[in-house]
Amino acid sequence: MPTLKNIVLPVTLLYLLLAMIIVLSKGGLTVDNIRQMIRITATSSMLLFSLTFSASSLLHFFCNKYWQSVMQARRRLGLSFALSHTVHLFAIVALVEIAYGGDYLQLGDIAGGSAIYLFIFAMAVTSNDASVKLLGAKNWKRLHKTGSYLIWIGLFSLYLENALDTGAWHYWLYVLLGISLILLRVGTFWDKRINA
Ligand code: HEM
Repeated sequence: MPTLKNIVLPVTLLYLLLAMIIVLSKGGLTVDNIRQMIRITATSSMLLFSLTFSASSLLHFFCNKYWQSVMQARRRLGLSFALSHTVHLFAIVALVEIAYGGDYLQLGDIAGGSAIYLFIFAMAVTSNDASVKLLGAKNWKRLHKTGSYLIWIGLFSLYLENALDTGAWHYWLYVLLGISLILLRVGTFWDKRINA
């Protein structure tokens, strides 16, 4: 039987390709279509990141074979998140080229988002055993922990902003998901401390 670890990357790739084909088939590279791709990739990134970020906590609280397979797939889930967010970046570049004639200043302050992208790419290229050896387990953990919390901040702050601006229920769902992720991590931390 195919495991989550084996299928998550090809399924993500297929999903992104299909999404692109379906969106672009309705009029091609228009500003509205590109914005839709940006939103679609933000959603797939949020879902993939949520599983990656919460896998060890979920296994800690509900130790069963399902969460074990999610835990085993954690690196691939992280890589799938990086893939989804790379398409987010390509869509942003397409938006700037088509809507703003290549003027990136039109996007406003992109320092925070760019810094998070550096972490995403650093995490993706070091998601292997050889990099853990090269960096040392402590430094590797530092990089991935800092990057994870920065990604959480990026996703949470943008969805909170959109929820407050539009009041749309799906944005509030993402906000709730973001809060649950942090509560799970804090809960695991305290549970491990109490039971140590
Ligand atoms: C320099 C880097 C980035 C730029 C320029 C950028 C640009 C954009 C733009 C223009 C939108 C709005 C699309 C629209 O609805 O019209 C957007 C949406 C979004 N971006 Fe990015 N982004 C960047 C990095 C990031 C990062 C690092 C994250 C998360 C870790 C992120 C998460 C999101 C989310 C959650 C949305 C909201 C999607 C929605 O409205 O449904 N972005 N981004």
